[in-house]
Amino acid sequence: MGTEKWKRIIEMKREPLGDNGGRLTGCEEHIALSKQAAAEGIVLLKNDGGLLPFEHGTRLAVFGKAQIDYVKGGGGSGEVHSAYVRNIYESLIRTGRVRVFDKLSHFYEDYVSAEYSDNKTNGMFDEAKIPRELLREARAFTDTAVITINRFSGEGWDRKNDGKDMYFDLSKKEKKMIDAVTRSFERVVVLINAGAMINTDQFAQNDRIQAVLMIWQGGMEGASAAAEVLTGIITPSGKLVDTCARSLADYPSSDGFHESEDYVKYTEDIFVGYRYFETIPGKKERVVYPFGYGLSYTSFELSQITAREIDGRIYVSVNVRNTGEYSGKEVVQLYYSAPQGRLTKAARELCAFRKTKLLAPGESETLTLDLTIDDMASYDDTDAIEKNAYIMEQGEYRFFLGNSVRDAKEIEYKHTEQEARIVKKLTSYCAPERLGKRLTASGEYAAVKDERQTRKSFGRGYKCRGNAFEKTDIKKLKDVYNGNITLDEFIAQLSDEELISLVQAKGNKGVANTGGIGDLEKYGIPAPMTADGPAGVRIELDTGIRTTAFPVATMLACTWNTELCEEIGRAGALEMKENDLSIWLTPALNIHRSPLCGRNFEYYSEDPYIAGKMAAAMVRGIQSQGIAATPKHFACNNKETNRFESDSVVSERALREIYLKGFEICVKESEPMAIMTSYNLINGVRASENAELITGILRGEWGYKGLVMTDWWNHASHYREALAGNDIRMPESAPSDLKEAFEKGLISRDQVAACARNVLKLILDLE
Ligand code: BGC
Repeated sequence: MGTEKWKRIIEMKREPLGDNGGRLTGCEEHIALSKQAAAEGIVLLKNDGGLLPFEHGTRLAVFGKAQIDYVKGGGGSGEVHSAYVRNIYESLIRTGRVRVFDKLSHFYEDYVSAEYSDNKTNGMFDEAKIPRELLREARAFTDTAVITINRFSGEGWDRKNDGKDMYFDLSKKEKKMIDAVTRSFERVVVLINAGAMINTDQFAQNDRIQAVLMIWQGGMEGASAAAEVLTGIITPSGKLVDTCARSLADYPSSDGFHESEDYVKYTEDIFVGYRYFETIPGKKERVVYPFGYGLSYTSFELSQITAREIDGRIYVSVNVRNTGEYSGKEVVQLYYSAPQGRLTKAARELCAFRKTKLLAPGESETLTLDLTIDDMASYDDTDAIEKNAYIMEQGEYRFFLGNSVRDAKEIEYKHTEQEARIVKKLTSYCAPERLGKRLTASGEYAAVKDERQTRKSFGRGYKCRGNAFEKTDIKKLKDVYNGNITLDEFIAQLSDEELISLVQAKGNKGVANTGGIGDLEKYGIPAPMTADGPAGVRIELDTGIRTTAFPVATMLACTWNTELCEEIGRAGALEMKENDLSIWLTPALNIHRSPLCGRNFEYYSEDPYIAGKMAAAMVRGIQSQGIAATPKHFACNNKETNRFESDSVVSERALREIYLKGFEICVKESEPMAIMTSYNLINGVRASENAELITGILRGEWGYKGLVMTDWWNHASHYREALAGNDIRMPESAPSDLKEAFEKGLISRDQVAACARNVLKLILDLE
């Protein structure tokens, strides 16, 4: 076994991993899994009169460029190169269940190829004008229309909604298309092919549109999944993981989102997403479709609800019965409402969820949802009760069970705290300096004192031994793996320079394009390579390798199916392994604070609980194959504009309860081998240089034992990062001041060794 260690990493022969020598990369099973996830993540928003699913033989006229120019995912490092991407037009035909008016779709084919010839790119050009005669012909063919709309966004830029670049709202040309179609056709369905929330109000309000599906960006087979939902092959079971508000201005983040390129003030505090809309007076009415919402073709009944408390945990059981005529799956969601006490609270917070198996009509399943009582505690950063402590306030904690935050009904069971109880006493970390104000549950803002913070620093608590071995007797890393020497003994033989080299990334080998780590041949330290995600393994086009493009993270979250997410993690890891890649820069779990953030598609949700659960599942799947997962971007990378320098100004409480919570769940549940810090600053300190964040919270409070790496080419100082607990600087070519700082005595050998140790530890854990 010992001789096999790192065989793939060292030899890089890209040996197939499938049965009988077959390749798993982009294989049929992985593509089928991708399609299944897309099918489960599609959210049916509206279905008046039960228009959907289409009956067999329904004739359709399909409008909109998106039917051809389907957007499978977003751009930048999150882009995945798959062998093909299905479009909506061909997918509808492939179902064999509907007849499509080809002439109209051919018009869009021609239009899209002309735009491409004009150097326009996927999802980034205007809607076409429908020729009048063609509209008439289409209407003569059928009374049923499908309107397709798409949106594209990517890394490094945020979307706008300024009339010219319309992301959230419809453009004038899209409105014209919709007007023309709804005027002519009696039955209209809208498909939204987007990576983040757009305005759904106009569809909700428009009686001439009977059905609306959020088909997200579903990867290479996302369009097939949409076609199968439309035709009833699949019953939709996706639920929203973001609130659909009536206008962009309704989101509390909109006010200040583009206010400055230098900072973003998170003044809405803990009231992000549904926590805002369900709590703040007058905001409920501003919701078109609430968090957790999604229709089915069938109906479900929840009954026999029981709850009990055992050893600090609450268990809620419920029977879910399919009372309709189609087979389908339901998602049961449990929310709690903590008492408004001295600390302001959100009216609802998601605390558990479960998805049923596929239930046939009449079939039922009993689900048990559970949570830890103390996880309902709030973080007191004001000394309302006890400064820097998680508190369970006195009073009744109520629970709501159902299939959306709005439809969840109160259950009989309540949890009561007789008096305020300190759950965990912590330390003040990452306090804001110039936040100014923060929102409270009444809708009023509370003032936040402007204090100058003294930032804490930490010793890394590692004592590097002196030269333990003669230079002639070089020990190899495999000796550590085989138990012949300890890792500390191994480290002791490395020169200062060698240690320094281990904390800077290394160049590409094999098919990698984002570099690797390790790579000290003399000591038998292999060079495991990184690769991007999260919607599949990103390998450059010129390698000729095509990987499976999975649905974007937002869509995965909309499945509310953690097992499925775990399977995708496993499949992706196998594709990594087969291509001799070792560290997958996946999952990404920043919070959807604003619909405009260019990278929302890579992230799961506005809610940290579901984001954390999905990320943990993904990490479990990835690491089950001996591949390292890398949750990113830690933390508060919720905007792309000026991301290298933008300061996220946020209260300690919102930081812990919203922006760090998903990472905390993921770290505690699935122990990721690596974590990537973000570019941005958090309350004035760059994330990668943020000792309070990395050493104080991540390692200190959460007990994280893995590697911390930077994001690529950030603007930070390498030695300050090393001191803060960020172990390695990425990529190889990123400028480093570490050697100079070491020579000046600004950082010690022990401190560098502490970082190098984490690099080596990760390598030792790889297969
Ligand atoms: C992105 C990361 C990515 C890295 C490597 C950065 O620009 O922010 O998410 O993993 O590049 O490609």
